[in-house]
Amino acid sequence: MGLGCHISARLAATFWTTVCLLRIITADQGLFQDLGFNVLPDISKINISIEEYTRMMSAYLQSKENSGDDTTTVPKLVLFKLDRQVSWKGRGSSVLLRFPVAADAGVELESAQLRMLLPPRRDADGPATVQVNLVLGARRRRPLAERTVYPSRRSPKWSEIDVGDGVASWLGGGANLGLELVCLEPGCRLEPLEAGITGLVRARRAGRAKRSPYHNGRRTDCQKGKGKKRRCCRQNMKVTFSKLDFPEMNFIVEPKVYEAGYCHGLCPPNYNHATNHSRIQSLIHQMERRNSSRTSKRSIVPKACCAPSKLGPLEILLVDKDDPSKLMLEKWDNMKVIECACS
Ligand SMILES: *[C@@H]1O[C@H](CO)[C@@H](O)[C@H](O)[C@H]1NC(C)=O
Ligand SMILES: *[C@@H]1O[C@H](CO)[C@@H](O)[C@H](O)[C@H]1NC(C)=O
Ligand SMILES: *[C@@H]1O[C@H](CO)[C@@H](O)[C@H](O)[C@H]1NC(C)=O
Repeated sequence: MGLGCHISARLAATFWTTVCLLRIITADQGLFQDLGFNVLPDISKINISIEEYTRMMSAYLQSKENSGDDTTTVPKLVLFKLDRQVSWKGRGSSVLLRFPVAADAGVELESAQLRMLLPPRRDADGPATVQVNLVLGARRRRPLAERTVYPSRRSPKWSEIDVGDGVASWLGGGANLGLELVCLEPGCRLEPLEAGITGLVRARRAGRAKRSPYHNGRRTDCQKGKGKKRRCCRQNMKVTFSKLDFPEMNFIVEPKVYEAGYCHGLCPPNYNHATNHSRIQSLIHQMERRNSSRTSKRSIVPKACCAPSKLGPLEILLVDKDDPSKLMLEKWDNMKVIECACS
C-alpha cells in the first residue's frame, strides 16, 4: 500500500477512522456530537428503575432476535430480587444484601448489575463513592467494584453497579453469602429502599461452535493463516465502548462490546473491485507504473485501496436524551463493516 491508500482510507471516512482522527487532532471534540447528538443527559440525573431497565432490555434483546443478523445466540435477561437486607453497624455503615442466586452449571454469565433505589441524601450534596464487596466469610471480603453515585437531596434515585464477578462465582457453585454495600464518604449511609440484580446469561453448550457472524456466504472475510501479503479482506475488530475513553459512552447500556470489523490488505490489479471507477483507476495506476522510470513515482495515480463496501447498522440501547429516567432504542447506521472491496 502506498501513501495514496492512506489518504483515500481517510476519505472513505467510516465511523472508526473518524474516531482515530478525532482522538489525534482534537481531543476536546465530543464523539457524541459527531454521531449526531446535540443534547446529552446529565449523568448525575440518570434514574433508571429496574422496571424500566427490564422492559427496555427485553425490547432490545427481542429486536436482536428478530434481526437474525448475528449467528451468535442472543442472551437471556434474568432478574434476582432482593431476599434480605441487614445493616451492619460494626463495619462503618455497610449493608448486607442477599439475593437468591444458586449454582447453575447450565448457564454462562455475560454481565450482571446490582440496581438499587438509594434514599435521598439530606446531609450532603453531590456524589458519593460506593463499593460493593463479595462476602466470603465472617471477615473475608472480595472487592467487586467501586462507583460514583449521585443521590438526590429530595427524592430516592436509582443507581447501578457492576457485580458480574460475584454473580458468576455464585452460578459457578461458590457459597452465596451476599453482597456488602459500603459508602466510602465519612458519615454517609446509603441503605437501598429497593434492590435487585439483573444479568444476561447464555445457555452453556458443550463444544461451542465459534462461528464468525460474518461467515455465512460473505466472501470477503479474511481466512486464517495467510501471511503478510494478504489480499483485501475483512478482519475482526472488537470494540468495547467503555474503553473508548469518552465519558459519553456511559449513556450506552447495550451493547458493551460489538464486532465492528475493518478492511485491510493488498489490492492487486483486477482484484475485488468495488466500482467501475476503481477498476479504471487501478488500470491507470498500472500503466503509469510501467512508465515510472520517466515519471516521478510520487505523482502517479495510486492503486485502489481496501475499504468497506458494505456497512451495517448497530442497534443501541441508551439513556433517553430528553428524559434521564427512560431508556431508548436507536439504530445507528454504518457502525460495522460487513464486506470490503478495493475502491
Ligand atoms: C427516580 O425514579 C423513581 C421511580 O422509579 C422516582 O420515584 C424518583 O422520584 C426518581 N428520583 C428522581 C431524583 O427523579
Ligand atoms: C459497471 O457499469 C455497468 C454498466 O452501467 C454496470 O452494469 C455494472 O454493474 C457496473 N459494475 C460495477 C461493479 O459497478
Ligand atoms: C508513458 O511515457 C510516454 C513517454 O514519456 C508518454 O508518451 C506516455 O503518454 C506515458 N504513458 C502514460 C500512461 O503515462
